[in-house]
Amino acid sequence: MSSTVTETTSTQVGKIGLTGGGRMKCDGTDPKYGDWRDDLVRDGFAVVKGAVPRERALSYANRMLGLLESFNTGYNRNDPSSVHPDKLPVINEKGMLLNYGAPHEDFVWDVRSEPGVVNAFEKVYDTEDLIVSFDAINYGFSNRQNLPANKPWPHQDQDPDRPGFRCLQGLVNLLPNGPNDGGLIVCKGAHLLSEDFHRDMKDEERIPAWTKEWYGFTEKGMQWLQDHGAEWIKVEAEPGDLLLWDSRTPHYNVPAKGKQDRLAIYTCFMPVADASQEDLIRKKDAFERRVGTTHWPNALHTGSNVAQRNGQPDKIVRDRPLHDPKLSERAFKLTGIPYIKV
Ligand SMILES: [Fe+2]
Repeated sequence: MSSTVTETTSTQVGKIGLTGGGRMKCDGTDPKYGDWRDDLVRDGFAVVKGAVPRERALSYANRMLGLLESFNTGYNRNDPSSVHPDKLPVINEKGMLLNYGAPHEDFVWDVRSEPGVVNAFEKVYDTEDLIVSFDAINYGFSNRQNLPANKPWPHQDQDPDRPGFRCLQGLVNLLPNGPNDGGLIVCKGAHLLSEDFHRDMKDEERIPAWTKEWYGFTEKGMQWLQDHGAEWIKVEAEPGDLLLWDSRTPHYNVPAKGKQDRLAIYTCFMPVADASQEDLIRKKDAFERRVGTTHWPNALHTGSNVAQRNGQPDKIVRDRPLHDPKLSERAFKLTGIPYIKV
């Protein structure tokens, strides 16, 4: 056990009867569940209301803003003019803070190991033996006048050559999030069109991708979706709601139009059975170095804590979280480390 593990029970989840055999297929053959899982099967996305209690979600939002202020570079949550790249650590145009140990801040781990979040993924995969991504956190500032444009980048996070339901992505929404507040937009029901789409579009030139597990929709691709009746939906949520989507569901995020910031923490889980021992060893290394993994929980790609600013290593150096996580036993299992066979 790592020295970061403490004996807490508040986030432990104990259930019996989860065997993995009832893993959702999201192909229309799933049974009726009578809850948000039916939405996921039908629409390719779902909202789990109140996965995190509202007050706790708002306190996580507080800690998220406090992290930015801790860099002491001029950002102040009460001064909208300080939403400026010169006063912030490097946050990409899509709002993601990827470096500086941020994927391992204590509050990020607290969100990942919230019982309501973990339970949702256990229900989908029908197992407690899960691993979680060390993904970015997202600052969707309402005041974007000094920030680079966030242009649409509709995509699937899955290799078209590996069809079927493979990965469920998620994010915990921390602030009120209405139609104008920015955030996740999804193409409803298009997960079920994915195989037809890729058959019809196999000769379409691809948008360059940094990983095979990404497919970007061209204008022609977007037209295909429209011609097949798929509709884009901006998902709305309250603080503490967990947004889930099938990796095949086309999606991206839209910038805020009103005065409300949007703060979110990505939480993607998969069964540890889907990861190889090699994956788990790479993931352990990512945990120990406190770097990110993107949304893939099997650490398909690992990141760095050195941000690039205008093509140069950022002057802000932080290679460990401001507050290192103290993991419960349940959370530590989600790192995958206990599943490594020596
Ligand atoms: Fe994505």
